[in-house]
Order: sequence, then C-alpha cells, then structure tokens
Amino acid sequence: MKVITSIKEMQQYIMTVKQSGKTVGFVPTMGYLHEGHLTLMNQAKNENDLLAVSIFVNPLQFGPNEDFDSYPRDFERDSQLAEKNGVDVLFHPSTEEMYPTKMSLAAKVHSRIDVLCGRQRNGHFDGVATVLIKLFNIVQPDRAYFGLKDAQQVAVVDGLITDFNFPITLVPVEIVREEDGLAKSSRNVNLTDQERIEAYRLFESLQMAKQAILDGERDPKVIEELIQNHILEHTSGDIDYVEIYRYPELDELTELTGKIIIAIAVKFTNVRLIDNITFDV
Ligand code: PAJ
Repeated sequence: MKVITSIKEMQQYIMTVKQSGKTVGFVPTMGYLHEGHLTLMNQAKNENDLLAVSIFVNPLQFGPNEDFDSYPRDFERDSQLAEKNGVDVLFHPSTEEMYPTKMSLAAKVHSRIDVLCGRQRNGHFDGVATVLIKLFNIVQPDRAYFGLKDAQQVAVVDGLITDFNFPITLVPVEIVREEDGLAKSSRNVNLTDQERIEAYRLFESLQMAKQAILDGERDPKVIEELIQNHILEHTSGDIDYVEIYRYPELDELTELTGKIIIAIAVKFTNVRLIDNITFDV
C-alpha cells in the first residue's frame, strides 16, 4: 500500500494509474476506521481496478462548538486496517497541505440542507462540498462510495456531482451496524458506558416506526411522536430532531407514501449520534 501526503504526488500517481487504463474507486473518510468504512472499501475494491482511500479530518465541516478537537484519530491503526483491507493508495494530507492559505473560493450548498443536520450545523455541508471538490480533483475517481449512515450527505454529494459535472458515479452503501443495531460510527467511542448501553434504542425506535407504517399508519406526526417518546423513555439523550421526508429530495410529506427517510439525531454527553432508515411505503 502506498501512503501519500502530498497533493502533487497523489495527482502524479493517479495520472499514471489512469494512463494505464485502470478504474479508480474512492472512499473519502475522516479516519478512525471501522466496519462501516471497511464495507465501503470492500465494495469499492470489488468494483474497480484500484482502491484509493483518503483520511483527512476536515476542519471546514466542523462548527465552532463541534468536536473537531475531540474527533478520534489514530493513523497507525488506520493504515494497518487499510493495508489489510486491500487499499492500494492511502491519501493522508495535513491541514496545511489541503488549506495552505485562507480559501479565496468555497462551495455553497443551496438545496437539501435546510432540514435534518444541515439546519443545525450551519455551513457543515459547505465544508463537506468544498473538501470533496478538492478531493475529487486530486483523486479523479471513476466511482465514489458514500454510506447512507449520512443520508443527507449522500443527497448533497449527488447534487455536487451533477451540478459541477464530475465524471464520477456516486455509489451509496447501506448502513453497517453493531450487533445490537447501533449504527457504526467513529464517534461511538465518545459515548459513556451507560450511554453505549442505551444507544441501540435509536435504531429500535426507527424499526418500531417502520413497523407502525407497514401496519398502516400514514401520518408523519404520529410516527415522529412515537419515536420521540421511545427515545425519551429509554435513553438519557436529548433529541435534536426526528424528521421524515421524501428521499432523496428531502421534501416535506403530509402523508407517508413513496420512498421516505426517517432520520434522528440525539445528543449525549460528549457526542451527538445520527441514524436513519430509508424505505418504500
Ligand atoms: P466519515 O464520517 O469518516 O465517513 C466516511 C464514509 O463512511 C461516509 O460516506 C460515511 O457515510 C460512511 N460511513 C460511516 N459510518 C458508516 C456506517 N455505519 N455504515 C455505512 N457507511 C458508513 O463522512 C465523512 O467522513 C466526511 O464528511 C467526508 C465525506 C470524508 C468529507 O470530509
């Protein structure tokens, strides 16, 4: 496995790969790799000649009161995991390499962001879009892999690739979960022991909601309330949001039909967890 920290070197490496006619699959990450990331990598490995992964904790997508400093990092462990999982090239730039000066231009996301995490995380998706424009230009992948764990991010990347004409196929990948149902996340290590025990209730509430809809409930308000009550009753977390939309458009619904997303965010002591399910009604 090649580890590259310089943008120029990465671009030169990718140019040689592309000249030899190979396809490039790309998994952008912020590291502290877990089964969720590895699932994206395995799929990308199977569908492309070369697997490129980036590890970069992008300061632009963290708000002033968010967890940039406490975001877990362990590059040694990550690079071992990457090598074991067949990564061909691991791109690991420093902040100075990615942002040597204050940017004179940056992305501004206009749609699909006034709901869910976008509403509360002002500028978050602008930061995600900006770093992805840079990474796509550096890595020039044929296919880019994103997890539905961050379903709003998938919707935003879909818009980015279309609007900026990147010749890249977006590949959304299903959520990978712990045995008890908690969605895998690098941030889970920041849960207290007690919170980790309660955390499976988030997914449980989503499954209950899905069952109620399959049993005939069509009122989104009733479903939202059911989820809120379940989380309040069984966890010590503070609910940030429980929301239901059409997916991937993220339009409001008055009646539950078609492809929908039910998404939740819950704040615990040191970490905010998100989860969602998407399905056809
Ligand atoms: P990060 O949180 O490291 O996630 C990298 C990718 O792994 C994302 O596409 C995310 O959706 C996916 N992922 C994380 N947990 C998952 C799970 N349990 N199941 C399936 N996929 C999962 O998302 C980011 O980094 C950043 O915003 C990034 C795109 C790298 C831009 O900085």
